[in-house]
Amino acid sequence: MIVLGIESSCDETAAALVRDDGTILSSVIYDQMDLHAAYGGVVPEIAARAHAERLDLVTEQALAEAGMTLGGISAISVTAGPGLIGGVVSGVMFAKGLSRGTGIPLIGVNHLAGHALTPRMTDGVAFPYLMLLVSGGHCQFLSVLGPDQFQRLGGTIDDAPGEAFDKTAKLLGLGYPGGPEVERAALTGDPRRFPLPRPLLDRPGCDMSFSGLKTALRRARDTLVAEQGGLTQADRADLCAAFQDATADVLTEKTRRAMAAFAAEHGPTTIAVAGGVAANRALRTALQDAAAEAGFAFTAPPLKLCTDNGAMIAWAGIERLRSGEAVDDLTLSARPRWPL
Ligand code: KG4
Ligand code: ZN
Repeated sequence: MIVLGIESSCDETAAALVRDDGTILSSVIYDQMDLHAAYGGVVPEIAARAHAERLDLVTEQALAEAGMTLGGISAISVTAGPGLIGGVVSGVMFAKGLSRGTGIPLIGVNHLAGHALTPRMTDGVAFPYLMLLVSGGHCQFLSVLGPDQFQRLGGTIDDAPGEAFDKTAKLLGLGYPGGPEVERAALTGDPRRFPLPRPLLDRPGCDMSFSGLKTALRRARDTLVAEQGGLTQADRADLCAAFQDATADVLTEKTRRAMAAFAAEHGPTTIAVAGGVAANRALRTALQDAAAEAGFAFTAPPLKLCTDNGAMIAWAGIERLRSGEAVDDLTLSARPRWPL
């Protein structure tokens, strides 16, 4: 069985062909970063238009790279939400047209399920496992119990960490996307010079908050600017190091709690981390250590599959077909909000 996956919920237009043994036959990602860089974040209208213009091209390319035609495909799996509604609608309409024109069954999948099920495609991780999804748009702990069985243990109550990294970079005059820039600057910084808060650590549970951190950082920057008339390279490095340290502290401590809550019910199994922020080396090392302490195996899909892509959507479709769930029809609709 080979499934075509289509993704367009944020700023990546992607298509991929995946076989039911987890082999990725092709994965094409058109990254819109250049279109949004000037704004320091994703502009929904620009994203939707770019998706509509590229969906047919990335799909054609995915087929060509796999040496296939639509005739060899068992199903078309498409992100039906959550995400920026213009982009999701573009993808769903495109998939419906393709399904209607060819008679190939249509499956609408939840984008978050795509991220959450990826470790099964890449590493064959067995249910149940714990997932930390940490990106520019998402931040949550999920107990993954089955292909369509997820339990949310907690998550951010305001910004996602990736968003906070991006805003920090913008505040300090660094480039977009901010995560890699902040990580690079932090390498030479002293995380102790600016004491930043660790929001919500004093409260029980797995919920997190990152907007207060951003505000504290802005205050520290404004004080420096008022005192010195600007920022030096060393100031920037120290601010980045302080921000990265605080973010990693919060995520790691809350991950400890999530592992304890998960283990109380299911025993320690595997913790998987996905999303763009999982690329951060300081965070990754801290999480790996915490997992080892708690007796969990640690896994993180390769970065290309941690960030948005079509292969994870194809795989989520495969999981659904395998579990015998019904496929969708042309009444499938795009959902901007769709909690797991
Ligand atoms: O998963 P992703 O590609 O897109 C979604 O948000 O769905 O994640 C992108 C986010 C951006 O906010 C980016 O700044 C952040 O991941 N990011 C990082 C790093 N690389 C990317 N954050 C911290 N450290 C990094 N090395
Ligand atoms: Zn995503």
